Amino acid sequence: MTVTMDTLVSLCKRRGFVFQSSEIYGGTGSCYDYGPLGVELKNNLKRLWWRDFVQNRPDMVGIDASILMHPMVWKASGHLENFTDPMVDCRECKLRFRADDVDTLAWTHYCEATKGNKFTIPAGEPCSHCGARRTLCPDCGKGELTPPRRFNLMFKTFMGPVEEEASVAYLRPETAQAMFVNFENVLQSMRLKLPFGIAQAGRSFRNEITPGNFIFRTREFEQMEIEYFVNPRDTVEGRPADEYWHDRWIADCMAWFRRYGLREENLRLREHDQSELSHYSKRTVDIDYRFPIGWSELMGIANRTDFDLKQHAKFSGKSLTYFDEERKEHIVPYVVEPASGVDRALLAFLADAYTEEEVRGEKRVVLRFHPELAPVKVAVLPLLKKRDEIVKAAHAIRATLAREWRVVYDDTAAIGRLYRRQDEVGTPYCVTVDVQTVGDSDKGEVGDGKVTIRDRDSMGQARVPIEALTGVFRDLLSGGDWAKVASEFPAAK
Ligand code: GAP
Repeated sequence: MTVTMDTLVSLCKRRGFVFQSSEIYGGTGSCYDYGPLGVELKNNLKRLWWRDFVQNRPDMVGIDASILMHPMVWKASGHLENFTDPMVDCRECKLRFRADDVDTLAWTHYCEATKGNKFTIPAGEPCSHCGARRTLCPDCGKGELTPPRRFNLMFKTFMGPVEEEASVAYLRPETAQAMFVNFENVLQSMRLKLPFGIAQAGRSFRNEITPGNFIFRTREFEQMEIEYFVNPRDTVEGRPADEYWHDRWIADCMAWFRRYGLREENLRLREHDQSELSHYSKRTVDIDYRFPIGWSELMGIANRTDFDLKQHAKFSGKSLTYFDEERKEHIVPYVVEPASGVDRALLAFLADAYTEEEVRGEKRVVLRFHPELAPVKVAVLPLLKKRDEIVKAAHAIRATLAREWRVVYDDTAAIGRLYRRQDEVGTPYCVTVDVQTVGDSDKGEVGDGKVTIRDRDSMGQARVPIEALTGVFRDLLSGGDWAKVASEFPAAK
């Protein structure tokens, strides 16, 4: 099913994933805060990326650089000159638009043919009464638009107490540049051999003219970027090393998104044509995702050649080369850059996980997150909250499991309702403690020491001894098979 953005925004707010920033003051334009479940999801996403692309690979290392960098970085990288969007301003209402966006907006029209009545006309269409097309501001419908002007997207600030030109600094618009300016430090300190990559995940800032679509395009966001350096003189499988590694990274990134739940039919590759390529790129391929707003960029994988290292060598006066032992010469490596956005990936995983289904005549909303992404792994639910032994056992189970995973305890509703709540936030498993678990001391009955595990996706159940729970969840939460657990620990019919 295709979920709408409104449904996701509402679920995110209601269930503590994402809130509008500074909401009680009316909100900050296109900034969002991650709530208790959102931060878990986001941390899981970043941890998996780091584990799979840094920790597990012998050819990768990571860094965590500062957001404020020397202003010369942005001159050398070309951002001061090229990181701009053409924008137009309305002379009347002063609203600002990206020049290339104006005709993609619905427009306001005061129609002469209907005594000046106001209409909102779909993007690109003429007025059905007078046939006019948009020439004025699409928002107020009255003001003329200025000719396009270049607008730099970097946020400017000042270092130190004096606000003067000499102390201008910029909030980084991408994490990439820190990997280039630290190339020599990383190479020498880690004694690396080509090919190798440097990874970084962290905040970036862009003063986007038209941010929007929830967390898809914001002014403050997080990126996960890799700069993978290769020797351009080398060949791999008969191809230039940079071209070979570019295709390898495209395939690896696609596989990564599929592995954690994005469906094949919602993913596609899009090759940039020559006119679209950034000033540094030899070839760029985007991984597009079918977001609720339509097909849009999820991440980009560019072959940046030796542009960045050469530019920083030129502007800093430092040599940024690699000594090729075999050929006994210094070379400037080429770089392949898989660049993704944390928030955009999170939105894609949310949209893909969202499912509505009918169960016994009622609507069930489920986020079918991959267990490693799910913000909460297990919810422990007492069947009767008035029975002390049940509540005590449930708290003890939560505390034991919480040593390894995010586990919650909830006793604020009846069991059916509690299950639905956990389904809606994507919790893969619930553990229910009941009278049978603890027995009834008044009647002299001892419990069986077993609890019910309920599987989110199949809604099937298994009856597992408490002491086996940690082992069972270690298996299930790292991709183990539910059917195997259900047959090993059958629930009573
Ligand atoms: N270093 C290359 C680079 O930054 P980019 O295509 O501009 O390339 C990479 O950004 C990724 O960062 C995008 O594919 C997207 O996922 C994310 N991203 C970029 N701008 C964003 C914004 N304003 N809001 C949210 N995510 C953004």
